[in-house]
Amino acid sequence: MKKLKNNLKKTAIITGASEGIGASLVNKLLQNNYKVIAISRSLKKLSKLKSINSKYKNDLKVFSADVTNSSQLLLIAKKIVSPDLLILNAGIYKPVFIENFSIETFIKQSEINYLGVIKSFDAFIKKMLLNRSGTVLIMSSIAGWIGLPKASAYAPTKSALRLFAQSIRYDLAQYNITVKLCSPGFVNTKAVKVNDFKMPGLIEPDVAAGLILKNISNKKFEITFPWFFSTFMKLLTHLPDNLSYKLIKYATSYDKEK
Ligand SMILES: NC(=O)c1ccc[n+]([C@@H]2O[C@H](COP(=O)([O-])OP(=O)(O)OC[C@H]3O[C@@H](n4cnc5c(N)ncnc54)[C@H](OP(=O)(O)O)[C@@H]3O)[C@@H](O)[C@H]2O)c1
Repeated sequence: MKKLKNNLKKTAIITGASEGIGASLVNKLLQNNYKVIAISRSLKKLSKLKSINSKYKNDLKVFSADVTNSSQLLLIAKKIVSPDLLILNAGIYKPVFIENFSIETFIKQSEINYLGVIKSFDAFIKKMLLNRSGTVLIMSSIAGWIGLPKASAYAPTKSALRLFAQSIRYDLAQYNITVKLCSPGFVNTKAVKVNDFKMPGLIEPDVAAGLILKNISNKKFEITFPWFFSTFMKLLTHLPDNLSYKLIKYATSYDKEK
């Protein structure tokens, strides 16, 4: 009876699962009766995740892989069942400081944030296509909606993910697979510790994970939060360029000359 109950559980794969929003999603999914396959590079951090969730030890599998490495991802794909939920979350944020402009910042973020998602998608989607079911959640950002100071390397990767999700949505719909795009505002994780300004609407990763799961099954394509900040940012995208440029310059104190 116990085994039967276990077999009825849905399976979720999460990349970038060892900390931040990904780790909170792992915790919440386990609490919501999912089996979880958690992927990130650091085995040390993944072991910590396992020990935090020792109560669910039969439902949590962890794998170390770098999302820039297709062979590592394909090896994992061979060992697991087709997921009901594929969360492509791994990503990094490095601001651009114009005085120390470095092409490496751009290459790294493009390789992890954009191509890393595509490589993960490639590794895990094939079984989902055979199964003709499931949901793919792609982690973008509000930073992908409009150009912001210091985000010239990060924002285009998130914008590219948005267009990837919008496009692949048509192709996957034919296979009964739903695509969702997640565009959070500021979430209090290691990634945003580099920010030296007060982040409007900053929320905790557990709150972010709760909002994602609450909205995972609704009909909306995009999950975005927190409400006030995302509405404000959405309004900016509808304004004439010169006006949104001036407002962002003012709000971020970029209107003062160096
Ligand atoms: N925090 C925010 O304000 C915010 C806002 C909007 C969108 N997002 C997006 O949300 C996602 C998660 O961000 P977060 O804030 O939770 O960041 P985080 O706390 O820094 O966590 C990032 C996760 O990604 C993993 N990761 C990084 N590079 C990887 C690689 N090459 N291969 C595999 N895993 C890798 C890290 O684990 P390992 O080091 O073990 O690999 C870690 O588990 C990112 O895509 C980010 O862009 C964040």
